[in-house]
Amino acid sequence: MSIPAPNNGTLRLGSKAPDFTSDSSNGPINFYEWAGDSWVVLFSHPDDFTPVCTTELGAFARLQPEFTKRGVKLIGLSANGTESHNAWIRDINELSNTNLTFPIIADPERKVAQLYDMIDFQDATNLDDKGVQLTIRSVFIIDPKKTIRLILSYPASTGRNTAEVLRVVDSLQTGDKHRVTTPINWTPGEDVIVHPSVSNDEAQTIFPKFRIVKPYLRFTPLDLNDSDPNSRSPKL
Ligand code: BEZ
Repeated sequence: MSIPAPNNGTLRLGSKAPDFTSDSSNGPINFYEWAGDSWVVLFSHPDDFTPVCTTELGAFARLQPEFTKRGVKLIGLSANGTESHNAWIRDINELSNTNLTFPIIADPERKVAQLYDMIDFQDATNLDDKGVQLTIRSVFIIDPKKTIRLILSYPASTGRNTAEVLRVVDSLQTGDKHRVTTPINWTPGEDVIVHPSVSNDEAQTIFPKFRIVKPYLRFTPLDLNDSDPNSRSPKL
């Protein structure tokens, strides 16, 4: 049975990431052109100079070399203009002792936030003192084919975890490369799960060290080399 994809404009895992053109802290950007053949982590903020978001942007900037190693481009979004973004970036760099170079999309009219369905449930209480909806705090991981592979939404109270975003990139890239999935709390270098579509006979050839814990749960180490994302240990 094939289940038709929902056609109500809602983005889900497997949806095509919408293209857009927007101003950014690095100048005008067409999203698809800017992304090229890279993976993308797109993460959003409701307002510049918000405290939790300030720490998050600093952390992403500091971890950027690890994303770059994995062929991932970072792009932020905040619902303000470029002048404000550039002033905020100066603060972020000072506070996190970093040099933020990736673009932050300028989305004062919340057009991209609407396009990506980033704005949280709206009711009479979900507003700031100016009546503005506060919560645009999503993370999207988008693959080189522009397919959305991860969506996370965070409350304003809780800072994101950059190590977790990097870990999901590692898991997705590993699963795309090998016929495996990754278990709870997996980090690169740990055993992975042989994909259910691989028979035991096939597994014996592909993963000679695989072991059967239950018929439906089979683990294997991956043979690593320098070009394999699993061989990299992130400097967090
Ligand atoms: C923040 O601290 O980053 C924040 C505050 C209010 C709404 C959203 C984010």
